[in-house]
Amino acid sequence: MNAVETPWDRKDLIAIEDLRREEIEVIHELAASFKEALQNDPASLPSLRGKTILNLFVEPSTRTRLAFEIAAKRLGADVALVERAASSLVKGESLRDTAQVIEALQADAIILRHSAAGSAHYLANVVDIPVINAGDGAHEHPTQALLDTFTMREKLGGRLDGRKVTILGDILFSRVARSNIFALQKLGAQVTVSGPATLVPEGFRDFGVEVNLDLRSALADADVVMLLRIQHERQTSTHFPNLGEYQSLYGLNAEREAWLKPETIIMHPGPINRGIELDSSLADGGRAVILDQVTNGIVNRMAVLALCLGHPKGGAER
Ligand code: CP
Repeated sequence: MNAVETPWDRKDLIAIEDLRREEIEVIHELAASFKEALQNDPASLPSLRGKTILNLFVEPSTRTRLAFEIAAKRLGADVALVERAASSLVKGESLRDTAQVIEALQADAIILRHSAAGSAHYLANVVDIPVINAGDGAHEHPTQALLDTFTMREKLGGRLDGRKVTILGDILFSRVARSNIFALQKLGAQVTVSGPATLVPEGFRDFGVEVNLDLRSALADADVVMLLRIQHERQTSTHFPNLGEYQSLYGLNAEREAWLKPETIIMHPGPINRGIELDSSLADGGRAVILDQVTNGIVNRMAVLALCLGHPKGGAER
């Protein structure tokens, strides 16, 4: 495996908004080299043997938690899991105290999934070990955007400069949308957001994206269509009459597939509400790269772990 020159100087990964284009590219280059090494030469992978990665998941997760666990194990690290229901968080212990206990137990990094926006940033200032944001409320989900843009680069043939990506659905409450908007713009892509006006506020123009509530034209010239799940758990009021109405007005189905270019790919971060934002015929069809996204989550998270734990303050010298 070729060594990747790294301009990386971060103990933590909190938000794509913080990253420069070169930092995203170095993660992708490292992830690509890990993907090749996993297939051809696993012995050449860098080692995190002797390190312990702590998955602190205060909100449910399947993909992110498992991909971080597998990524850490591929690099030789040990992994432990703290979930809210089986921890002293339910007895009222604070997140700060929980994190300090984890650090006192000599974990080498914390992967945090939490419902509160800003929680990962907060923890990164509480502990000296790396903190990696695995999704904080409606703020950011940086590793999701890294694996999404990595998958787009694989499928579209390299660079994303000038590519058109339409993100459709619950933009307002989506940390995936926010992280992808930042990542895509840094990588030179043009982003359009679409969906019901109540979930696609005009204020998103301030992020530099096109807001287009006309679904047909939002889909027509897209190279990538990214569907988002309706996130009932974050909505404090009703943003559309019912799921049936959402499906009939904004769901991607076989009829609307005809509006896409032949080569357009369909993405979804998961979990999918089948039959609501995306019909099963498309979720399981030839355009969908949804399971490639999941698989690419391993190598992108391996890259993030290797970079953050390789940082001088990241525990490499411990
Ligand atoms: N995409 C994503 O974050 O999925 P999980 O909630 O299953 O981790």
